[in-house]
Amino acid sequence: MVSERSFELYCPTKVKFGVGVSSEAGEEIKKLNGQKVLVVVDPGVVAAGVLENILKSLEKENLPYIIFDEVEVNATLSKVHKASDLQKKEGCDILLCVGGGSTIDTGKGVGCLATNPGPLQAYEGPEKYNNPPLPSVAIPTTAGTGSELSFGAVLYDEERNYKFSFRSSMQIPKVALLDPLLLKSLPPSVAASSGMDALSHCVEAFVSKWSTYITDAYCKQNFHLVGQYLRRFVANPSDVEAAGGMLQASAMGSMAFNTARLGLVHAMASPLGVHFHLPHGTSCGVLMPPVIRYNLIACPEKYIEIAIALEGSVKGTRKMEQAYSAIDAIDRLMADIGLHVHFDSAQIVEEKLSQMADETLSSGMQLTNPRNVTKEDVIGVYRDFFGI
Ligand SMILES: NC(=O)c1ccc[n+]([C@@H]2O[C@H](COP(=O)([O-])OP(=O)(O)OC[C@H]3O[C@@H](n4cnc5c(N)ncnc54)[C@H](O)[C@@H]3O)[C@@H](O)[C@H]2O)c1
Ligand SMILES: [Fe+2]
Repeated sequence: MVSERSFELYCPTKVKFGVGVSSEAGEEIKKLNGQKVLVVVDPGVVAAGVLENILKSLEKENLPYIIFDEVEVNATLSKVHKASDLQKKEGCDILLCVGGGSTIDTGKGVGCLATNPGPLQAYEGPEKYNNPPLPSVAIPTTAGTGSELSFGAVLYDEERNYKFSFRSSMQIPKVALLDPLLLKSLPPSVAASSGMDALSHCVEAFVSKWSTYITDAYCKQNFHLVGQYLRRFVANPSDVEAAGGMLQASAMGSMAFNTARLGLVHAMASPLGVHFHLPHGTSCGVLMPPVIRYNLIACPEKYIEIAIALEGSVKGTRKMEQAYSAIDAIDRLMADIGLHVHFDSAQIVEEKLSQMADETLSSGMQLTNPRNVTKEDVIGVYRDFFGI
């Protein structure tokens, strides 16, 4: 299913890949004419010692910098505001975001508020603000979100207990430095969760109503890389070859979903993550099997391709039977990397399912899902997921 609609593919980021490439941050910021840098980072990444060579590269170029090191997992709105106050007070004109999706998305919020009045919640959805944000350089330290190359940012609004995304082609980082060495300190649980995020981006983009031949090429390569490297990477995040493969798989995810968009997994993952306190990648991973079961009749051929790319073969001779192999392959991958969740079924009341289904639909992400979705369908998929 490759759509016949016209499309725009916009990849403005300069991507540099290689062991040690993160120490070129100073040089790249100089080329962008940055005068004063706000370094955005979270405490876990600082404690892991990831920043040292990166800061040296700023010093080598005589670039003054200020560090904001309070980013929280899930990119909370309150920390975006705190970082934004610091950026304004210090007059920083460029952002250097070093971390996972939470850090890079916090940077996107800061960049937007530097040149637009806000509040950020008013910009929920696509292309809602007018002024170009501050330029940014992104250095991912997880391999999953692809935020270093994406239009999107996902922020957690604590007051509403709601995760929202705001998207703009203007907020794609100018430079992404993909350095496999930085991932060596990644806890295996984060490697597993963010790795499933990377896979889910391409599974969703590949079956999307907006998929294209070009984005399909990124997706297929992502499936091969995840099949080849995710287990190895979780077993040993300092395996540079595996980390590099996963970093590239993750980058391909956003290169695909910037154009092809996502689907029901991501639409359902934010409510699931918020109400049951799960990391984003874990929510996406565990929702893939029930969502694929729901979607299967829309495009079984594509799920057969996913299964073959992940595992090299499919089971059975009938088309639908073979397509089910994609679910089995993903279940096996999650079992091998130790990704599983348990719920107390008493927590899963009707009103909560109804609220989560409303939040799913309000994201709009289900609009490109290969199978059309109603509120009852969403509740049905959540029921399948919870086994109730
Ligand atoms: N903008 C997008 O396009 C996009 C896409 C998908 C997900 N997201 C968002 O990204 C967020 C998830 O990001 P994530 O999965 O990258 O995780 P994260 O940024 O939330 O980080 C998770 C944990 O890993 C630690 N960590 C990260 N790198 C480390 C390293 N190298 N060594 C040691 N510890 C390290 C962090 O300190 C943190 O505690 C979610 O909020 C999600 O909604 C955004
Ligand atoms: Fe995601």
